[in-house]
Amino acid sequence: MSTHTAVSRAYNFSAGPAVLPLSVLEQIKEEMLALPGVGSSILEISHRSQAFVEILDDARQRLVDLLEIPDTHEVLFLQGGARLQNAMIPMNLLSDRSQTADYIVTGKWGLTSSEEVQHYGKLNLAWNGADSGYSRLPQLSEIDFSDAAVYIHFTSNETIHGLQFSRPPANRDVPLVSDSSSDFLCRPCDVSKFGLIYACAQKNAGAAGVTVVIIRKDLLARSGDRLASYLDYAQQVKGGSMLNTPPTFAIYVSGLIFKWLQDQGGLESIYELNLAKSEMLYAVIDANSDFYLGHVKNKADRSIMNVVFKLPSPELDKKFVEDASNENMTSLKGHRSLGGIRASIYNAMPVEGVQVLAEFMRDFVKKHG
Ligand SMILES: Cc1ncc(COP(=O)(O)O)c(C=O)c1O
Repeated sequence: MSTHTAVSRAYNFSAGPAVLPLSVLEQIKEEMLALPGVGSSILEISHRSQAFVEILDDARQRLVDLLEIPDTHEVLFLQGGARLQNAMIPMNLLSDRSQTADYIVTGKWGLTSSEEVQHYGKLNLAWNGADSGYSRLPQLSEIDFSDAAVYIHFTSNETIHGLQFSRPPANRDVPLVSDSSSDFLCRPCDVSKFGLIYACAQKNAGAAGVTVVIIRKDLLARSGDRLASYLDYAQQVKGGSMLNTPPTFAIYVSGLIFKWLQDQGGLESIYELNLAKSEMLYAVIDANSDFYLGHVKNKADRSIMNVVFKLPSPELDKKFVEDASNENMTSLKGHRSLGGIRASIYNAMPVEGVQVLAEFMRDFVKKHG
């Protein structure tokens, strides 16, 4: 895929909002003034119009097909980001304040999620990787599950620390809840294993403004009638994600992304590509391990979405980001809490962009190593 249109496009390694496929951006541009057969822009039509209802249904169906979501689960398109889900999950799944939830905290996002539980019930911090600076994932035997827990929450990919679970970190008969915000749709996923999966769209599934929630139907009853309608998953399901005016543009973009993923051959194909892309960067890191200091200790824990490393000094980190920017690679600066470098290589990052970065890294170590 070419990265140069009439406007010069950089290789954008942003952690989110992040790069989108060029073909999707071009379609948005083409349809911005009038959707085919509609005569108005997606920004101008009612969410109750047939045209938008079709867009929403199409997006939902494509997602169901991509992930092979079983009939046991519902799909919602909500607002408020992953952040609101951090609260809606304990709000809905804990029936009262006496109930407990297990949280496996492997980074900043897991920690943020866990902090909301106190408003609605009891938190059991089943594992917290803070002591290791969130540089590794736990073994199953290290996780201190509570027998009382009514759900188990984990973050499948920690965007800041670059840690990703290769399989769910629990094998108990308790609903598993995954914050999949930064690795949603990066690989096939057996949805039947999960009670709830949530993902904000602005990394791997579209534009900021919409968050996908996939919830097992039997969990919908837990909220009772305690909650305001917007905050109640059961009410959202009844209202078809349209209790209020939904983020119509963001849902339209997500639908285009789901179609793009299908056109790429689906999640098996995109997974192969993601493995190959991340391996290109990890190979340079491993071949120069005195210079590129990977944040994650065990290779098996490394993220295929966010590659996080430091150089031997903050000055070199800064120079790396500046020189990369001069070569048309942007947003490589690590998160402010960690420093160093973070290369986010989501589904839409072309292989060519990763090749250019890997080449740049090899040159940079030759010059400064
Ligand atoms: C894993 C993870 N969870 C949650 C969030 C927060 O998402 P939002 O800003 O949509 O609330 C992010 C955003 O970077 C994230 O990476």
